[in-house]
Amino acid sequence: MLFEGLELVSALATLAACLVSVTLLLAVSQQLWQLRWAATRDKSCKLPIPKGSMGFPLIGETGHWLLQVFSKIFSHEALQSYLPKIQLVIQDTLRAWSSHPEAINVYQETQKLTFRMAIRVLLGFSIPEEDLGHLFEVYQQFVENVFSLPVDLPFSGYRRGIQARQILQKGLEKAIREKLQCTQGKDYSDALDILIESSKEHGKEMTMQELKDGTLELIFAAYATTASASTSLIMQLLKHPAVLEKLREELRAQGILHSGGCPCEGTLRLDTLSGLHYLDCVIKEVMRLFTPISGGYRTVLQTFELDGFQIPKGWSVMYSIRDTHDTAPVFKDVNVFDPDRFGQARSEDKDGRFHYLPFGGGVRTCLGKHLAKLFLKVLAVELASTSRFELATRTFPRITLVPVLHPVDGLSVKFFGLDSNQNKILPETEAMLSATV
Ligand code: HEM
Repeated sequence: MLFEGLELVSALATLAACLVSVTLLLAVSQQLWQLRWAATRDKSCKLPIPKGSMGFPLIGETGHWLLQVFSKIFSHEALQSYLPKIQLVIQDTLRAWSSHPEAINVYQETQKLTFRMAIRVLLGFSIPEEDLGHLFEVYQQFVENVFSLPVDLPFSGYRRGIQARQILQKGLEKAIREKLQCTQGKDYSDALDILIESSKEHGKEMTMQELKDGTLELIFAAYATTASASTSLIMQLLKHPAVLEKLREELRAQGILHSGGCPCEGTLRLDTLSGLHYLDCVIKEVMRLFTPISGGYRTVLQTFELDGFQIPKGWSVMYSIRDTHDTAPVFKDVNVFDPDRFGQARSEDKDGRFHYLPFGGGVRTCLGKHLAKLFLKVLAVELASTSRFELATRTFPRITLVPVLHPVDGLSVKFFGLDSNQNKILPETEAMLSATV
């Protein structure tokens, strides 16, 4: 009897300990997100932090009108006007990768690429190349310290983060001022133009501080996620030469495959890209198996029931994108990389709205998802049509999930321009490609 009583006490104690740990874990992780804003935001920014979400303070519940502005920034017309610039930035980058005598670190290089895309295309800044390199280094220092504890001591991560933010904001302010003065000679409206113009239309002219915060947050949202997905895309094309060949066939059939020296700079169109169904499947499958972000936070606005459990109003909950993809009953052989699962014949994602959510879901779904997909598609087209690439290590690297999914060694790859053996995978490359994780 005494023994049973002791067992019960011990079980209750374990349960209590578990509850305390989970509550502490939730509280700590939520605090971390708050701290992130403490580090990324300037104290003079008055907009409140959205409660319980990953929260980009300039949008969502804090300013409904800004949501409309963002929908313009990522509208079909806007994407069409960014497309030639995105293609040029990617082509330039691939040329640089191919002329590099050594293998490159793909994750590092795709981070530079997405940063460049955000600065040159999305924000339309004409910062000289040298200054852009310096800004990128400062930006990396900022991102590395975004999650640091707010202990403002010399040499602390927090201090380094604040210093990096100050330098970045100075650089952004200079670029914004130059841009505001020189509006002539532009052939398209970038996201920053739309942000400035649309906020005026809504009678809310943005202050310089809000513009700096807005641009920094756009870069932050676009940068690591898109670099992670781009790296996964390159790794999967390397691992699955048959997928790359099928993609090339589709491009060949549509007359898109470039030949010798690539005369078709900046000529892709949105409607051409949306006609490439296999390409769409490849991108979807990369985003299913290698979703860059694990999940997100929400505050429960109304008590609800889930699988017999009551979740009370006011609780913080976390949803997991990765677990959802891993357990969704609609996907067959979940661990297999198989773009055809999204093809017309199978359409495994057609049932259920919330089985496939690489960009989140609900009202706070990713606002840049169409831009991100567009970027990945152009990268895939350019890789397939202008580059030959080989894994430079004996085996494929392990993947880590923090802070976003990426290969532990960054993925070492040697790029070549296409030779006279256009778009064919060379036999020795094939042997290399069959290297496994
Ligand atoms: C492959 C690339 C990307 C992935 C996987 C991704 C994923 C996500 C996810 C999962 C969320 C929702 C987080 C939550 O549930 O709270 C989100 C939010 C957001 N994303 Fe993305 N994203 C990507 C690229 C981009 C790009 C390129 C931009 C813009 C330039 C962008 C802008 C945003 C913004 C503004 C939000 C906040 C929406 C809100 O809080 O209402 N994202 N993203």
